[in-house]
Amino acid sequence: MNKAVAGFSKLSKEEKINWIASAYFSNPENAILLLKKYWNSDEKLQKLHDEFIENTISNFYIPLGVAPNFLINDKYYTIPMAIEESSVVAAASKSAKFWASRGGFKTTIINTEKIGQVHFLYKGDVSKLELFFAQTKAKFLSETESITKNMKQRGGGILNITLEDKTQLLDHYFQLHATFETIDSMGANFINSCLEQFAKILKTEAQVYELFTEEEKNIEVVMSILSNYVPNCIVRAEVSCPVEELAEKHIPNPEVFAQRFVQAVQIAEVEPFRAVTHNKGIMNGIDAVILATGNDFRAVEAGVHAYAAKSGKYSSLSHAKIENGIFSFWLEVPLALGTVGGLTSLHPLVKLSLEMLENPSAKELMKIVAVAGLAQNFAALRSLTTTGIQDGHMKMHLNNILNQLEATTEERDAVQKHFKNHVVSHSGVVNFIEDIRKK
Ligand code: MEV
Repeated sequence: MNKAVAGFSKLSKEEKINWIASAYFSNPENAILLLKKYWNSDEKLQKLHDEFIENTISNFYIPLGVAPNFLINDKYYTIPMAIEESSVVAAASKSAKFWASRGGFKTTIINTEKIGQVHFLYKGDVSKLELFFAQTKAKFLSETESITKNMKQRGGGILNITLEDKTQLLDHYFQLHATFETIDSMGANFINSCLEQFAKILKTEAQVYELFTEEEKNIEVVMSILSNYVPNCIVRAEVSCPVEELAEKHIPNPEVFAQRFVQAVQIAEVEPFRAVTHNKGIMNGIDAVILATGNDFRAVEAGVHAYAAKSGKYSSLSHAKIENGIFSFWLEVPLALGTVGGLTSLHPLVKLSLEMLENPSAKELMKIVAVAGLAQNFAALRSLTTTGIQDGHMKMHLNNILNQLEATTEERDAVQKHFKNHVVSHSGVVNFIEDIRKK
């Protein structure tokens, strides 16, 4: 069968599914049944989801869990987390409980500036371009007023525009580099609209600028787009307590624990192979909240990792120290988030998640998300430097294997009993169940 298809987007959902089923599946009926099994019986709700993207054929579930008992700046939160990886929500909850009895998490918004750029080519005298920019700058602001009016009323808008000479990097390459405050919205639409307007103004004003030669008048705009690198949109989250207060069941010697914990962080600070995994653990917490609250996790991921490499070498996002008997652990991350606009008012579970967080402002959400990242990192490092990660992981993994094998309650009990004293492995559990079933 020819697996190329023309006009696919114009087919109805039913037709799309039929085509896919017959093109790719040995049992087309089963494929269709499975896809439809995941449709929501509430047609209105299904239509809403269908229309989020294009060529929708079904829904793809990711569990929504909650991590309660997060004490952040003296207020308790239950944090919604959408994530498919086992252990993450459990780890967050454990960290939350641990730190709630040790003063909780403290957070600070360092700044909230967003960035966008008009990338263009100019072939000519740079000093004339600089003069042109200085004389036209006010127009960039006044002629975007219809776009910025509402944002200004909410306290945001365009903060500044500068001309950047990038010709050292690429021939004829210049930028309009603009900074924005977008209050409670992530601001992508607002920023991109402003930038496209800047690009128009740039081109039309250059055409009539008397000092430019004909060639200089022909400014070529390559593209106008926000940057997901937001190194001036930073939140800090931290925990601290006297070293001896770190003691608990799995931490019989808090001094040794604190030292090893700090060493683990120092390793991630100097060793990129470890830093990537260390930061991945932080992103387990961050992404889960980002997803549950309808924010763009790809944007956040891209920006966070760029920030982790800002020194020129990829490094840990979190840091730890012991000073005068006090253990401190903190991270600073760039988070451009929104609690209005986008998916936040469209996706019913996003709305629910935001309500669970008591409808936070974007700044409050930045704090909550950063705390989820720090909590996750704390839980991972605590396991890694004490019992090892597999202990907890395999307990959760065991449950997934049992679900896969559709184990009965009796089988589950027998497995739990047996694997208390044996190392859990996928094949070990499968063999054990097979043996029971044979008997
Ligand atoms: C697993 O998803 C995350 C960890 O690997 C993070 C870490 O190693 O710090 C446990």
